[in-house]
Amino acid sequence: MSFPTHRPRRLRTTPAMRRMTAEHRLAAPELILPAFIREGLTEPNPIASMPGVVQHTTDSLKRAAAEAVELGVGGIMLFGIPAERDARGTASLDPDGVLNKAIRDVRAEVGDELVVMSDVCLDEFTDHGHCGVLDADGYVDNDATLEIYAAMAVAQADAGAHMLGPSGMMDGQIGVIRQALEDAGHTNTAVVAYAAKYASAFYGPFREAVDSQLKGDRRTYQMDAANRREAILEVELDLAEGADLVMVKPAMSYLDILADVAAMSTVPVAAYQISGEYSMIEAAAANGWIDRRAAITESVLGIKRAGANMVLTYWASELAGWLKES
Ligand code: PBG
Repeated sequence: MSFPTHRPRRLRTTPAMRRMTAEHRLAAPELILPAFIREGLTEPNPIASMPGVVQHTTDSLKRAAAEAVELGVGGIMLFGIPAERDARGTASLDPDGVLNKAIRDVRAEVGDELVVMSDVCLDEFTDHGHCGVLDADGYVDNDATLEIYAAMAVAQADAGAHMLGPSGMMDGQIGVIRQALEDAGHTNTAVVAYAAKYASAFYGPFREAVDSQLKGDRRTYQMDAANRREAILEVELDLAEGADLVMVKPAMSYLDILADVAAMSTVPVAAYQISGEYSMIEAAAANGWIDRRAAITESVLGIKRAGANMVLTYWASELAGWLKES
């Protein structure tokens, strides 16, 4: 034979050929925008380690949500930064607390046009910065934390969240939250389980984003980067407890985990492209070392290709805008 039996390059010859034969493509409805609101701000506050991302005021958050709707983005994930913190994160339960109020405000702005999601976790609300309450030895007390998560979940559902995102990695959190929602009559409030969430250095910029008080790390509750099999166990448990969606987090250093979870999950799978993943690309682009738009697009497409049905990304609205152009 004097010619290659197969020439994969044929399908790469023109942009139209590549577009038609692409196995995966990005679409705005599967993008979810994480957003921060900080109590007491009068102007949006830039987050230095996440260029382009801000801590919102109520007004700027409402504008960002309206813009996301305009661009066809699928959802928004809200994180609140309270003015006052204490050891038990009490502000998280206040119906007029920063996050619960933000949920109400965003719902009033977007109605059902955007899936309004909220973070069920204590780290933004505790003065020690851990995702749960501490016992006498300073260990994060799993079951005492669950009781607070249950009340927090109901408060967020009362405020109008369509979907709750428990991100604290306490054992049993999905079951306890599901039960509390059912008992409170919130049968249609969905839960996206941060099922396989790893203790990651790439959360660094998020600490600035939420003014975290954490000293030390979260290794007694978040997963160890060395573990792959364990992710399947975490997902199985969350599915058994009633998770409506499961999430893998971070995304880019955990694409094998994402592929494993996508292969076994019976519910849709989300992945969270986290703060450090955002900041790395922004920093390299700002230095002129990579093509910003191409790198962003490729990174999110890679997460989809690995098996994510939805991607949480700080570029959600910008990406959706690009998708509209093309
Ligand atoms: C915990 C939470 C964190 C993130 C989302 N939810 C921080 C952590 O686990 O340390 C990180 C998101 C990001 O880095 O973009 N409430």
